[in-house]
Amino acid sequence: MEVLDLIKERFSPYEFTEKQLTESDLNTLFEAAGKAASAFNEQPWRFVYALKQDAAEFKVLHECLVEGNQGWTENVAALVIAVISTNYEKNGNENTVAQHDLGLAVGNLTVQASAMGIHLHQMAGIVPQNAINKLNIPEGFQPVTAIALGYYEGESMVKERRPVNEIAFKGNWK
Ligand SMILES: Cc1cc2nc3c(=O)[nH]c(=O)nc-3n(C[C@H](O)[C@H](O)[C@H](O)COP(=O)(O)O)c2cc1C
Repeated sequence: MEVLDLIKERFSPYEFTEKQLTESDLNTLFEAAGKAASAFNEQPWRFVYALKQDAAEFKVLHECLVEGNQGWTENVAALVIAVISTNYEKNGNENTVAQHDLGLAVGNLTVQASAMGIHLHQMAGIVPQNAINKLNIPEGFQPVTAIALGYYEGESMVKERRPVNEIAFKGNWK
């Protein structure tokens, strides 16, 4: 079997159309995110989001991005701040794979979005302290990334990837 088209054709645009996203679209995406596997089923992912049409909320999330990312995200349909819970609920120990599990959740969200014709562009370029202060993120939680979401109508911008033989080694590292 070939790699699924919606995986092969995914890319992260810098431009989005004016088309809005709905609360229901976002709920579906977060439901997909929440189906991901996680260590001890901790589900350490949390998401704070704002839709473009909710201008005041959107502005606050937008202010959590570094300047370089603020420029091209002014008109995206939605912004999300992706957050981890840093410690296991059951014993208080540090969850050293929380970021891994957040990545799995965002991976699910990405595939679901692609199936719905929605593009997204993830960002490490956030100002975590802004997010903590402006979004009321409680102690024990850490903002990690942001996601811009919306629709795209231009040409495909799929980037080159390393071939499989550069990323997977049979038996030992070669
Ligand atoms: C965790 C993560 C952080 C990223 N941070 C930024 C960012 O701060 N600003 C930006 O413009 N793109 C950012 N990107 C987008 C990547 O540059 C992009 O995914 C990569 O070049 C591969 O391109 P593609 O997603 O179109 O396949 C980030 C992507 C990921 C997954």
